[in-house]
Amino acid sequence: MLQEKKIILGITGGIAAYKSAFLISQLKKLGADIWVVMTKAATSFITPLTLQTLSKNKVYIDLFEDSSSFIPKHISLNENTDLILIAPATANTISKISQGIADNLLTTLVLSSKTQKVLAPTMNENMYNNPIFQENMEKLKKMGYLFIEPEYGRLACNKEGKGRMANIDKIIEEVKQVLINDNLPLKNRKILITAGATREPIDIIRYISNRSSGKMGYALAKEAKRLGGEVTLISGPTFLSSLEGVAMIKVDTALKMKEAVTREYNDKDIIIFSAAVCDFRPKKVYKGKIKKREENLSLELIENPDILRELGSEKKGKFLVGFAAEDSDNIKSAIIKLREKNLDLIVFNNITEVGAGFEVDTNKIKIITKDETIKEFPLLTKQEVAQNIFKEIIKNLPSAN
Ligand code: C5P
Repeated sequence: MLQEKKIILGITGGIAAYKSAFLISQLKKLGADIWVVMTKAATSFITPLTLQTLSKNKVYIDLFEDSSSFIPKHISLNENTDLILIAPATANTISKISQGIADNLLTTLVLSSKTQKVLAPTMNENMYNNPIFQENMEKLKKMGYLFIEPEYGRLACNKEGKGRMANIDKIIEEVKQVLINDNLPLKNRKILITAGATREPIDIIRYISNRSSGKMGYALAKEAKRLGGEVTLISGPTFLSSLEGVAMIKVDTALKMKEAVTREYNDKDIIIFSAAVCDFRPKKVYKGKIKKREENLSLELIENPDILRELGSEKKGKFLVGFAAEDSDNIKSAIIKLREKNLDLIVFNNITEVGAGFEVDTNKIKIITKDETIKEFPLLTKQEVAQNIFKEIIKNLPSAN
């Protein structure tokens, strides 16, 4: 099942390290090629010799040992790797990774690799619930690292709590899901997503923009990736981190966004416009900084191209999705946009509703499909909203009919 899959198994210093022996043996039975990288602390819990014997590969610990090769170990080990699995993953290692620290072979390997990472945390319950650790784990989750939740049970400290490493079967299931993605619904589909606001310059320091944070578009990109899609994200300026495994194109103005979309559009199957493109831009961009003055200042605004409308007019068989952020519950205008922009699906939300729309982590949407059926959803996190949007997209894709 995992034939020809190369997995780097990172083992860190927790008591669950003894279970790594079983994990290796199961993964080997499924045909995977396992390369173990241990932290120094892990060697106090299980010997490299045991793991070497089971994995049938050399076990690596030290970044600098064996200087016979000219290629650094973190580079050569990373080559052709399909997955980096860290089990057990301690609070220390997870937190170091989240801060970009590379002070041993395992953390260096993670920092220098673009491969999907799966981590199975294990620690004392207080450590797990500590907001410092939770914040570090959340940061990695947002970047696309997958975590297998620890289980409730008796811990090494003799207390009951949440912190035991997930059982081996569960870890194997997660590995299979990530590596055997043949039946993922968006496999072989290319998806283009726009996100965030555009910025239209007035002078060299001032601009016109809007309150869009980009969170919805980034959640969509993350979900598209999870469903097996090949994702390109064209993003306006945001405070969000780039997403692992997603091709990122950063733009600022509507015209730059249009340029990027036009360049990327042709080979894509599904195009989702969640960006809040500024409808207008200043006609003239002042050189330097506009000085303070006595009289009033008028800015002349000219219309930006409606990128989505232009794409819709020459559809080329693409599945087009738009967003309609409105200031009332009147869904009529969204239906008109769906028709006029020649879309397959539009996501409506009333931005005046609490928890819906700009800047927040939640959204309350209605999905309208080409046949103008309307589906209403409760207030959900933007990640859950993204899941629902993709469920509808997948249901309505031409080949799925
Ligand atoms: O017409 P309205 O701006 O409300 O339509 C919103 C939809 O159109 C969104 O999907 C948005 O990304 C897209 N749009 C665009 N270019 C613009 C304005 C909006 O592609 N200039």
